[in-house]
Amino acid sequence: MQAYQNKPPALSTSTLSVAPMMECTDRHFRFLLRLISRRTRLYTEMVTANALVHSARAGRDPMRFLAHHADEHPVALQLGGSDPTLMAEAAVMGAKAGFDEINLNIGCPSDRVTTGKFGAYLMAEPDLVATCVRAIREALSKVGSAIPVTVKTRIGIDDQDSDAFLDDFVGRVTHAGCDTFIIHARKAILAGLSPKENREIPPLKYARAYKLKRDFPKLTVILNGGVKTLAEVPQHLAHLDGLMIGRAAYDAPYAFFADADRVIFGETHDTPSENEIALAYLDYAERELATGTRLHLITRHAMGLFTGRPGARAWRRALSEVNGAGSPHAALNNLHTLIALNNSSPVIDKSDTLAA
Ligand SMILES: Cc1cc2nc3c(=O)[nH]c(=O)nc-3n(C[C@H](O)[C@H](O)[C@H](O)COP(=O)(O)O)c2cc1C
Repeated sequence: MQAYQNKPPALSTSTLSVAPMMECTDRHFRFLLRLISRRTRLYTEMVTANALVHSARAGRDPMRFLAHHADEHPVALQLGGSDPTLMAEAAVMGAKAGFDEINLNIGCPSDRVTTGKFGAYLMAEPDLVATCVRAIREALSKVGSAIPVTVKTRIGIDDQDSDAFLDDFVGRVTHAGCDTFIIHARKAILAGLSPKENREIPPLKYARAYKLKRDFPKLTVILNGGVKTLAEVPQHLAHLDGLMIGRAAYDAPYAFFADADRVIFGETHDTPSENEIALAYLDYAERELATGTRLHLITRHAMGLFTGRPGARAWRRALSEVNGAGSPHAALNNLHTLIALNNSSPVIDKSDTLAA
């Protein structure tokens, strides 16, 4: 793939990022992704401000929500919630833990009846979102932190999906001091669709995100939704400032990101092969095992490492057998053996690549 020639003026680590995904983008997956791309910005799973603050107030260690590896930077903490005081307190905890950005989840289509004001529902309350942004910024500045506060949202909710609705939302939140918006380019249907359906059924409208950038040229506008390959990224970058990748990053991290540093960020270093990445991740797993982490919690995130590559099926099979290997060290040995085999004869199973 040719290096991207027409870079936007403010090329930053936000130009390409991995989306926050519950149960997926925990610290182990982020470490794996960082082995593949040094520059891509990473986002945590959403942490609710409520859970973070109350667990700290109850004397429990908040690092179970905030732990991250020094190599993960740049890494953003995504917060969920709408109580300005709790959000500010949680953001300060995030800044003190070393995160590079606080991102607000205004896009998750959860049921507002059971969860209170939350996620995409908050698009209907732009002034409350603005109050949260302001409270967070003030609290961060009091502790001497200047990390950015950003918002991840949709293009609308239910029948509130006009251009004016999105522009009004963005305008009010911008006024509170947010200058970066990540736009999942489909609306959320709050009643009747599951979160999964809400990621698939409402149509993607990339042109709406492009228009937002034209309407607010000084803002950093990042597009999210439905991008499946790195080759698609440059065409979007001609219209806005960055791309955030969700499912494709998790399902095929190497296939998507192996060329990202070179193609998107203009770096010249070689990306390690998928076998080298797998070995480095197993080394990491071994270090984590020594601190008491269960092996399966680490290896489950590597299922997609060989997607589209030789050895994918055998690798997935071996990972799925980790728990039955007798001991974690035996499981690690099996995985090492498989990688050694893959190195000496790249096509372990000729049907692998096609089946991946
Ligand atoms: C398993 C899963 C968990 C998700 N969890 C979150 C989350 O915690 N916060 C959030 O803002 N979005 C969450 N999302 C939505 C993604 O961040 C992203 O907006 C969506 O998947 C569309 O991007 P994609 O088409 O590139 O996957 C989640 C998506 C998936 C598939």
